[in-house]
Amino acid sequence: MKLLIANWKASINKDSAATWMTAFLNYIDTNNLDAKLAEKNTTIVICPPFPLISLVAEQLSAYTNIKTGSQTISSVEHGAFTGEVTGELLKEYVNYAIIGHSERRAHFNLTEEEISKQLANASANNIAPILCVRNEQDTVRPNVTFIAYEPVDAIGSGHNAPIEEVIAMKQKLNLPQNTSFIYGGSVDEQNIATYLQSGEIDGFLVGTASLQAESFIKLVEAMG
Ligand code: PGA
Repeated sequence: MKLLIANWKASINKDSAATWMTAFLNYIDTNNLDAKLAEKNTTIVICPPFPLISLVAEQLSAYTNIKTGSQTISSVEHGAFTGEVTGELLKEYVNYAIIGHSERRAHFNLTEEEISKQLANASANNIAPILCVRNEQDTVRPNVTFIAYEPVDAIGSGHNAPIEEVIAMKQKLNLPQNTSFIYGGSVDEQNIATYLQSGEIDGFLVGTASLQAESFIKLVEAMG
């Protein structure tokens, strides 16, 4: 299965999300995108900031292959944890959760121990984890289907990693057979074809190029 993931980070607010969704829903319906994605065994996942998740999920509820995801998930399960957003709360709205993004590791001191708990909480609530790794030093867990390789230097820099380097990392990670190997880091409409042509990449985690519906739609078109 292929995945195309939009990671809006904290860069899209309620107004810009409304504009984005209007353009995207219009594209979905005029192009019969949901049915096309089914034929290609591809799923699109939109990951809004927490306050916008329920709005987006409701607008996507009619579709089978266009889903909502969260950008992280709490490492705690339930109870008196002020400010936490748990798997139990998210499961009503999302099918996927990004876990271990390098920005969370760097800015919020996310540890491998917390990542283990987050993975368990996602799975316990039927949320498919998309585990991000920066290199072969980050722990790859055997039961995670979606592994996103995101080299730190490539994120948000406009300097996407060369395909040879991405394939070399895939080999180093030595992933189990049924793992989907995803690349993220400055993916855009110009460079996505190189990755697709290699036949080695099962999907993309996209930040900057997902912030405008028009540029994200270009990536949707390239996938197909
Ligand atoms: P980028 O972000 O596409 O802007 O490099 C990717 C990510 O951080 O997931």
